[in-house]
Amino acid sequence: MTTDNQIIIFDTTLRDGEQSPGASMNQPEKLRIATQLEKLGVNVIEAGFPAASEGDFEAVKAIAETLKTAQIAALCRANKDDINRGWQAVKNAAHPRIHTFIATSELHMKYKLQMTPEQVLEQAVESVKLAASYTDNVEFSAEDGSRSDPAFLCKVFEAVIDAGATTINLPDTVGYAIPEEYSELIKHVMQNTPNMDKAVLSVHCHNDLGLATANTLAAIKAGARQVEVTINGIGERAGNTSLEEVVMSLHTRPNFFPQTTSIDTTKIYPTSRLVSMITGILVQPNRAIVGANAFAHEAGIHQDGVLKNPMTYEIMKPETIGLSKNSLVLGKHSGRHALNSHIQEMGYNLSKEELNKVFEKFKHLADKKKSIQDEDIEALINEGVLRSSEVFTLEYINVVSGNTVFPTASVKLNINGRPVQGATAGSGPIDAVYNIISKLTGTTSELLRFTISALTEGTDAQGEVTVRLQEDGIVALGKGTDPDIITASALAYINGLNRLEYLKSHPIVKPDNL
Ligand code: KIV
Ligand code: ZN
Repeated sequence: MTTDNQIIIFDTTLRDGEQSPGASMNQPEKLRIATQLEKLGVNVIEAGFPAASEGDFEAVKAIAETLKTAQIAALCRANKDDINRGWQAVKNAAHPRIHTFIATSELHMKYKLQMTPEQVLEQAVESVKLAASYTDNVEFSAEDGSRSDPAFLCKVFEAVIDAGATTINLPDTVGYAIPEEYSELIKHVMQNTPNMDKAVLSVHCHNDLGLATANTLAAIKAGARQVEVTINGIGERAGNTSLEEVVMSLHTRPNFFPQTTSIDTTKIYPTSRLVSMITGILVQPNRAIVGANAFAHEAGIHQDGVLKNPMTYEIMKPETIGLSKNSLVLGKHSGRHALNSHIQEMGYNLSKEELNKVFEKFKHLADKKKSIQDEDIEALINEGVLRSSEVFTLEYINVVSGNTVFPTASVKLNINGRPVQGATAGSGPIDAVYNIISKLTGTTSELLRFTISALTEGTDAQGEVTVRLQEDGIVALGKGTDPDIITASALAYINGLNRLEYLKSHPIVKPDNL
């Protein structure tokens, strides 16, 4: 339940967020993120687009059947098949929602849909009626709303509210709006849709001009009551409005925004890390709220001020978003219990079996690295628990390299339980490792991007490698961490190959391409 002053947080990390290039997730990964979003206090979770693929359908269904308090929305185009399929996926949820959409701008109607405005209006109404025959929780979105004729928008909104829509969404689909203009449009729609008081007005902004959060906040000021957001702002093209920016703006500026949210802000940082780990999409260091530098003060004058009184330069406390102050935590002698309580403090709840796996990896790492920090523990959770449906796993790796030898790598892999091994050379150690892995797995992916960074400070830090692979037009990200950067590179490559395998058997079709 939300009060009148409370903004409804609709999170679409698992749907629009998954439309980020290479960000596709498998079912256990989606379930894990959904569970974390519920803990974060999100009101509505858009779990996916069930008509897009069998995999998406199953993931939405599993989320709907597992979560207890959040509303679970299924995205459906405005047609019978999509809505029937969407309902089958969410019908067992404690609080199901059907979210149906059709484009209303002249451009989209004429060129994409090749339909007249009258036909669009009729299809919108029919679809909402069908959705409302299943549930009284129906959202309607006017795709490309911000570029639609305001009079036509109001006409469509009035008709779909009469047909049973309880939430009306006005998206800035292509990230074209400017805050003042978007705010005027919101006000216009509220004043000129006679039955608007029977529905919640929602906004959904894309970040093509870097204005998604500004537009969303302007819309809240103008009277919008639901905001559609993603963790870390991931999403189609330049992404969506980020949950953390909107929530922390309301939280930090209560004198300007009387509106509140149900978000537990201390879970923002762990959720951001989880989404980054699972999708492999790194958070840029200077990103607001959740970036590595968001609370780092480099300049001496800032450091001095912060030491005297943190409020001199810090408008938010790191603890408010769940960034623990003391991240130097555990070492070789720490036991399972200490590890578990720290993992819980970081916002994760692992089963006994998962904890055992992470503990084993922790001991192994502690033998190599003196102090284990939060970033290391997150990486262990990623490697030990979050990875699933793996076709390929690494058994061992041995590399010879240097400035006087020809780099060679021998690798042993497990492919669906079958051991395979081989050795080959390359222009450098990573080239050699990737050559032999590609040969052993029989894959032909192209390496589009390779990045490496240190997870923490110190020369004994773990290396974190992210790769972007492409095979047969499918793009996947892979991530690997290890104190040995060649091993980290191999793990990232193997992770990317596993993701490609998953995507080949679970093709994802984006709503816009259907
Ligand atoms: O950006 C958009 O218009 C969307 C709709 C499907 C809501 O994602
Ligand atoms: Zn969108």
